[in-house]
Parts: sequence; C-alpha cells; structure tokens
Amino acid sequence: MSARSAPTGDVAERAAEGFTSQYGGNAAGRWAAPGRVNLIGEHTDYNDGFVLPFALPLRTVVAADRQDGEQWTVWSELSGETITFGADDVAEPGRVTGWGAYVAGVVWALRDAGHPVPGARLAIASDVPLGAGLSSSAALESAVLAALLDLGGLDLPAERQPRLAQRAENVYVGAPTGIMDQSAVIRCRAGHALFLDCRDESVEQIPFDLDAAGLAVLVVDSRAPHRHADGEYAARRRSCEAAAKALGVPALRDVTVDQLDAALARLDDDETRRRVRHVVTEDQRVLDTVALLRAGRVRDIGPLLTASHVSMRDDFEITVPEIDTAVEAALGAGALGARMTGGGFGGCVLALVEADRADAVAAAVTAAYAERAFTAPTTVTVLPAPGAT
Ligand code: ADP
Ligand code: GAL
Repeated sequence: MSARSAPTGDVAERAAEGFTSQYGGNAAGRWAAPGRVNLIGEHTDYNDGFVLPFALPLRTVVAADRQDGEQWTVWSELSGETITFGADDVAEPGRVTGWGAYVAGVVWALRDAGHPVPGARLAIASDVPLGAGLSSSAALESAVLAALLDLGGLDLPAERQPRLAQRAENVYVGAPTGIMDQSAVIRCRAGHALFLDCRDESVEQIPFDLDAAGLAVLVVDSRAPHRHADGEYAARRRSCEAAAKALGVPALRDVTVDQLDAALARLDDDETRRRVRHVVTEDQRVLDTVALLRAGRVRDIGPLLTASHVSMRDDFEITVPEIDTAVEAALGAGALGARMTGGGFGGCVLALVEADRADAVAAAVTAAYAERAFTAPTTVTVLPAPGAT
C-alpha cells in the first residue's frame, strides 16, 4: 500500500519460499496475523476503556519449523537479514534489539509464563506497512506466538494470547502500549468490528457490513512517520494516569460523561483537563458507535468519527499537519466521517465514504497534499478481515 510496504506476490508464498531459500526444506506450517485499523476509541485502551478496531486484509505470515536446542533463527523479508538468539538472550528483556526484539520478546514472554518454548527457525513476510500505525508490530508478535504455540504443542487459549504478546512489546521491546492492537490482531472476525472492554477484556463482535450499506472505509497512509515508541505516547499515558490518581479513580474509564464537568473542575491544569476530556468523551463515542452499528445505522457513525478526530487534534494534541489535511480534504470531498487511527503523530487516517465516492475522496486527499507539497499519500479501501489464523 505504500513505499513502506512489502514486495508484491502472495505473502504466504513469500514466507514459505523465504523459509526454503534460507534454511532448505519445507516449513512445518504457516501462521498469519493481520494489521488492524481502529474504527474509534483512541488512547482509551490504557485507560481501561473501550475500543472498536477491525482487522485488515494485509497480513504478516511466519513460515516455521522446530530446530534442536534453545536457539531461534529468524529471517525477515523486510529487513533482508537473518538473526539468531539463544537462551541467554531471552533470559531477560532488552538483550536482543531492533526488529528481532519483537520475536525474542515473544519467546521471553512465553518462557516467563512458564511455557517450554521449542527452538525454531522462522521466515517472515508481511504486507502490513511498518510504522504506519496499522500494528505491524502486533501482527509480527501474534504470528510468531501462534507459530511457537503450535510447534511446541503449547496450550494458551486465544483470549489469553493478547496479554502475552503485549508483554513482549511492553517489557521486552519497552514500548508502553495498551492491549488494543494484540487483541484486534488475534480476536477480530471478518465482517465485524471488535468491541473490546479493555478492563476485563470481554469482547463483542459487532457486525460492520459496509457492502450492504453501500459504504467503504478508505485508509490513507499519511506518510508522516508515527513515533509513539518515543516520548509523546508515554507522556500522554502518564498524564492520564496522573489525572486518574488526582481524581481518586482507578482509571479514567471510571469517569462518565455525566461526571466530566465536576471532574474537570477538580483539576487545576488546563492541559490535563483537555487530556481527560478526550478520554472520557472518546469512551462515550465508542459506546455510541456500537449502539448505532447494533441498530444497523452504519451511515450515522460518520459524525462520531469526525468528533473523535477533533478531540484528538484539539484536546489530546496527537495529530500532525499531514493527518489534519487528509481528514479535512476527505470531509470536504463528501466523506461521512474521517479520523486519524492509531497512536498518533503520523500514521493513517480512515474515512467512511459512499462506496462510489471512494475514488473521488482519495483524489481530493492527494490533491490537498500536492498543494501543501507533502509527500504523496497512499490510499486503499478495506473491508473487515479475519484475525490471526
Ligand atoms: P506499527 O506497529 O504501527 O507498524 P511500530 O513502530 O509499533 O509500528 O512497529 C514497527 C516495528 O515493528 C518495525 O520498525 C520493526 O522493528 C517491527 N516489525 C514489524 N513487522 C516486521 C516484519 N515483518 N519484519 C521485521 N520487523 C518488523
Ligand atoms: C497504539 C497503541 C495502542 C493504543 C493506540 C491508541 O499505537 O499500540 O495500544 O493505545 O496507539 O489508541
């Protein structure tokens, strides 16, 4: 989908062929996990709130087999390198760095949870663009996790897998992200958005039938690199946690929109007030979106998507000019709603459009970018795809 995406050709075949050319012979199997977009509910997951992501038809595939000893050899088509690590490297977090950390992190997290992980050779191919806010990292972790569970005959129910993959990212890689991405990648179903309560991890599959409604979701890669692994994401998270503490609640999820004004009056810092307002109103927008989708009113969610964007732009302050330009241009060309999706500071925008307007909306975004001399965006229409297989 962009200059940052993988080479063309079937991704599962590329993984299998990569395995054969790197290691000789055939892999024992192939395990796939998709990227995701979040329809609505941003920066709510680590506040114990609600999110509504769906899986993309872009996947990361791992072709793998066991190997003797406590040794893991990993080749990725995207880096073109092969790395090897052993038991010492997964004895504690941080010893493997770079992209290999996402793989070593999964081995570490499994072992830390008491699972005897078999040595393995893995070959990875992916169609999920890296660092575009579409969760290539969660797709990688989840596909590797599925492969190692199967190869080792290990038993870890699907509903417990997201936390383990998240630990790989939080503790081994060191990125303080929430539970949304791994949950989406593992638990989403085709044709549905996943309504996830991030406090107890209960889920409801919400039908999201775009075709029947004559609608499409257009995903625009802003080409502005997102950088949540560094300071800004962590700063937002700290600010939310400090606000919850000041308000005497376990998490901002515990403040409802009805209680918002009273809660804001108890905070003395304007920036913190705006952060809290984003999270509390965003949780409510997720609930309202779910209610509309349950009632089959897909078209009517547009204004909620746009309101979410305004809240991220003005209150949570996580958008950048490329992103705001894409949202404004999409709305100007008739999108029913548009918003940034993912952690922010770049990444992707999604727009809900009449199916027959998708090309016109994409063209309007491209034209707005050209006017501002931004690097040309890439656009694709997507339907909700299955989770990890
Ligand atoms: P996102 O998850 O939104 O794409 P992140 O910055 O969180 O962005 O994660 C991207 C990182 O994940 C890459 O820089 C790389 O280290 C790693 N990664 C993801 N997929 C692959 C892959 N197929 N091969 C190698 N590394 C990958
Ligand atoms: C992502 C992060 C998620 C979630 C999201 C914002 O990048 O991995 O856990 O917090 O940002 O909604």
